Amino acid sequence: MRTIVITGGAGFIGSHVVRRFVNRYPHIRIINLDALTYAGNLENLADVENASNYMFEKVDITDAAAVNAVFAKHCPDGVIHLAAESHVDRSIADPMAFIRTNIEGTVNLLNATRIAWKDNFEGKRFYHISTDEVYGSLGEEGLFTEETSYDPRSPYSASKASSDHLVRAYFHTYGLPVVISNCSNNYGPNHFPEKLIPLAINNIVNNRPIPIYGKGENVRDWLYVEDHASAIDVIFHKGGAGETYNIGGNNEWTNIDLIHLLCKVMDEKLGREPGTSAQLITYVQDRAGHDLRYAIDSSKLKRELGWQPSLTFEEGLPKTVDWYLANERWLNNVTSGSYQHYYTKQYQER
Ligand code: NAD
Ligand code: TYD
Repeated sequence: MRTIVITGGAGFIGSHVVRRFVNRYPHIRIINLDALTYAGNLENLADVENASNYMFEKVDITDAAAVNAVFAKHCPDGVIHLAAESHVDRSIADPMAFIRTNIEGTVNLLNATRIAWKDNFEGKRFYHISTDEVYGSLGEEGLFTEETSYDPRSPYSASKASSDHLVRAYFHTYGLPVVISNCSNNYGPNHFPEKLIPLAINNIVNNRPIPIYGKGENVRDWLYVEDHASAIDVIFHKGGAGETYNIGGNNEWTNIDLIHLLCKVMDEKLGREPGTSAQLITYVQDRAGHDLRYAIDSSKLKRELGWQPSLTFEEGLPKTVDWYLANERWLNNVTSGSYQHYYTKQYQER
C-alpha cells in the first residue's frame, strides 16, 4: 500500500486535500501530520477520521527528530507539504514564527525524505505547496507566470519564497524529485476567520464592523478551495519533477467590490433588507507594505495537465456563505478563546 504524508492537513486547504485523497484513493494510506496550531482543527476532518486509510500524527515540523521518527515509522512514498504559518498580518506582528515553521520546518521535511528514501528516489515525490505572494505585487496590468522573478515583500511571503528556493535547491543538489505550485487566494468552507472573507462573514452575522484596509482598492485573484485541492491532486500525480505550476481562479476582485458582493449575498441569505450589511463596511488603517495586486496566469497547468476550476465566484461565494451559516458551531468554536485576544489586538487601534 502506498503512503502519502500530508502536512498541515488540519488547516483550511490541507483538510480539503486530505478529504479528497482519503475518499478518492482508498488504496493509498494518508498520514495527516499537523502540530494543531491555532489554525489547525481536527473538526475539519470529522467526516473522514474513521476511514481505514487515514491516520493523524500530531507533530511540529520544526522538531526534526519528531519528523524523522514519523517518516521512519510510516515510510511514505510521497509528501504533500502544506503546513505553514499562513497569515500576512500575523507575520507582520511575529516574523520569527514564520521563519521557524515555513523555512526551518520545510528543511526538516526535505531532510527527513532524504533520510527515509536513502537518496533512492524511484517512485517518490515531494510536493511543496506555495503562494503567488512570492512574486511580489503587480501594478494594474500583467499576470504572474512561472517565470516571474521572486520579489516577496512581507515576512510571510519572504518565508514562503525562501522555502521554495530550498525545495528547488534539494532538486538541483540532491536530485530530490520535487514539484512546486504557487496558488492565488483561496476561499471556501473551513477558512479560519482571520482572513478577509470568513472574517467578513462572521462580522456580518454578528452585526460587527467589516474592516477594510486602506481604500479597499487592493486586488486579489480568488479560487474556491476545492478547486485548489483538485489542482494539487493533478499536479501530485502528473506534474513533472522539478517543475513549477501556477494555480489561479482568473477571478480578480478589489477588496471593496468583493465585500459589496458578499454583503449582497449575506442580505439575501439572512433575509435582511438590501443594503443592510454594507452599512457595516468600515475603512481602517492600511496593512504595512500592503501588496496592491496579485493575479495568476495558470495557462501552463491548464495546457500541460488539463486542470480547470469547476466553480465561478458567483457560484462559490454563496456556497461558502451557506457553509458558514450551516456551521455556526464550527465558527463559534474557532472564534472563542484565543481568537478574541487576536481580534482585539489586531483591530482595536486601526
Ligand atoms: P492554515 O493556516 O489554515 O493551516 C496551516 C496548517 O498547518 C494548520 O493545520 C496548522 O496547525 C499547521 N501548522 C502550522 N505550523 C505547523 C508546524 N510548525 N508543524 C506542523 N503543522 C503546522 O493555512 P492554509 O490557508 O490552509 O494554507 C496551507 C498552505 O497553502 C500554506 O503552505 C500556504 O502558504 C499555502 N497557500 C495558502 C493560500 C490561501 O489563500 N490560504 C493560497 C496559496 C497558498
Ligand atoms: P487576507 O485574507 O489576509 O489574504 P492575503 O493578505 O494573503 O491576500 O487579505 C485579503 C485582502 O483583504 C488583502 O488585500 C488584505 C485585505 N483585508 C482587509 O481589508 N481587511 C481585513 O480585515 C483583512 C483580514 C484583510
